[in-house]
Amino acid sequence: MTSQTSRWSVTVLTLFPEMFPGSVGHSLAGKARSDGLWSLETIDIRAFAHDVHGTVDDTPFGGGPGMVMRADVVDAALQSVPDDDRPRIYLSPRGKLLTQQYVRELADGSGAVILCGRYEGIDHRVTLARGLEEVSIGDYVLSGGEPAAEVLIDACVRLLPGVIGDARSLQEESFERGLLEYPHYTRPQTWGGLDVPAVLRSGHHARVAEWRRAQAEELTRLRRPDLWARYGGTRKREGL
Ligand code: ADE
Repeated sequence: MTSQTSRWSVTVLTLFPEMFPGSVGHSLAGKARSDGLWSLETIDIRAFAHDVHGTVDDTPFGGGPGMVMRADVVDAALQSVPDDDRPRIYLSPRGKLLTQQYVRELADGSGAVILCGRYEGIDHRVTLARGLEEVSIGDYVLSGGEPAAEVLIDACVRLLPGVIGDARSLQEESFERGLLEYPHYTRPQTWGGLDVPAVLRSGHHARVAEWRRAQAEELTRLRRPDLWARYGGTRKREGL
């Protein structure tokens, strides 16, 4: 669980500050923000353009379609954020995949500085010169980093202490034990001709736990052979 004493803070650099807070301004994350558990600041990259037209992009060296965000403009925006211990993340489909483990590490820290790209992305020299961590939220291409930033922020904020009332739900959920989560049921007991599995109504905690574990394992085996293979390895190491 997280150990920071000051609140978790995110700075987002974007050409579209009006897109924020977006989804993280609502529900759990939104309430946590108004309760002061985390903070969000946006920086408009265009404000760092050097010309009166607010130019932020240019054609790529080497030719090809699309435009590239200029190193000088992006870097000026980044340098406007005072140096601190927060990781500087550049969201891009070329980045390392965002996992629950990385989310946990981020939530355990003091926050993140997140750079959102548009067009074909940013001039690679900024990534190199400023040691940006390139992070992707999945193997597909978005039209910009902003939706990815919301995904990353949401995933982190829900792990902050006090955001989710019953912390047990965090231990049970997908990826926490290397498995996808078991299916859930609630009332009505019969719906659409389907009954809630009898074991869940048995009141027998050990049997419920065993049924859920079996469901989680079967689901993971069928849907995520990658996770399943890793889980098998873990269980063998633990002698299970
Ligand atoms: N920007 C565009 N596509 C992205 C992705 N898959 N992850 C993170 N940022 C992106």
